[in-house]
Amino acid sequence: MIKGFRKCSVPVGASGDWAISRFTLDRTHVPANAPHAEIMQYISGNPIRDVAPGTYTRLTRRDSETGLEVVVMSDTDAEMREHAAFVRRARRHGSQGRVLVFGLGLGVCVEALLLNGGVGHVDVVELSDDVRALTGPHLLARYGGKPGNGGRLAIHAGDANTWEPPDPAMRWSEVWIDIWDTISDSHMAQMTALRSRFTDRASGAVGCWAEDQGKRMDAAYLAVDQIRCELGDALYAMPIPERIERARKRTNAILSGRAAEGKRA
Ligand SMILES: C[S@@+](CC[C@H](N)C(=O)[O-])C[C@H]1O[C@@H](n2cnc3c(N)ncnc32)[C@H](O)[C@@H]1O
Repeated sequence: MIKGFRKCSVPVGASGDWAISRFTLDRTHVPANAPHAEIMQYISGNPIRDVAPGTYTRLTRRDSETGLEVVVMSDTDAEMREHAAFVRRARRHGSQGRVLVFGLGLGVCVEALLLNGGVGHVDVVELSDDVRALTGPHLLARYGGKPGNGGRLAIHAGDANTWEPPDPAMRWSEVWIDIWDTISDSHMAQMTALRSRFTDRASGAVGCWAEDQGKRMDAAYLAVDQIRCELGDALYAMPIPERIERARKRTNAILSGRAAEGKRA
């Protein structure tokens, strides 16, 4: 369990294409077919987001095209870890803190903001009626009510791309955007666009879930492409640890080059 987080206690249930269920792992689970697994192995040599044995809660959505169930959120350490730095930063504002979160999910992040004192108030914007119906009542029973009258949580229906606060004067100490199912370099442009919508309304940061991993992945794809072009088939003759080391060094060079460019601009 990641410090400052609580295991999800939202009741199991289903609504439309969405469901909340518990699942138990009796051995460590390594997500073999994660879209980023290959590239992460190039960079780190280690599989990431392993899940320790235990009982967990997950939020799933049936994909309308494939008919397959996609896990959108769970209360595993791997998921909590990716919110931990934001939660720590936001909780420093204490009872004066007012936080805006896009993406309710299982409410894992929202609970970590509010439990044991935490921040004064959280506004959450959630696109899906089903997710609001599944998770909302449980969290509102714990933390809801009217602001100024004991209520510390408000759940708004809306799309992060277009949502406008009910009161145009609303401002937040921190904003957190977590509306994506997977970590991907393809979300970078949307993150930039969404951040710019809320920068003027936040006294602190406007952060996006897994943004650093996305940036790293973007650089790693480029690094692997460059190395493939330079070495051709010789790349595949190289022992795997050497390939990984080469890709890692090139990825770091690309990232530090981008950071230096950012500073000059
Ligand atoms: C990964 S989950 C969020 C998990 C959440 N942070 C938690 O701690 O449980 C993503 C959520 O974002 C919602 N979502 C997706 N696109 C959205 C959008 N454009 N605007 C608002 N919410 C969105 C999904 O319905 C889903 O509930």
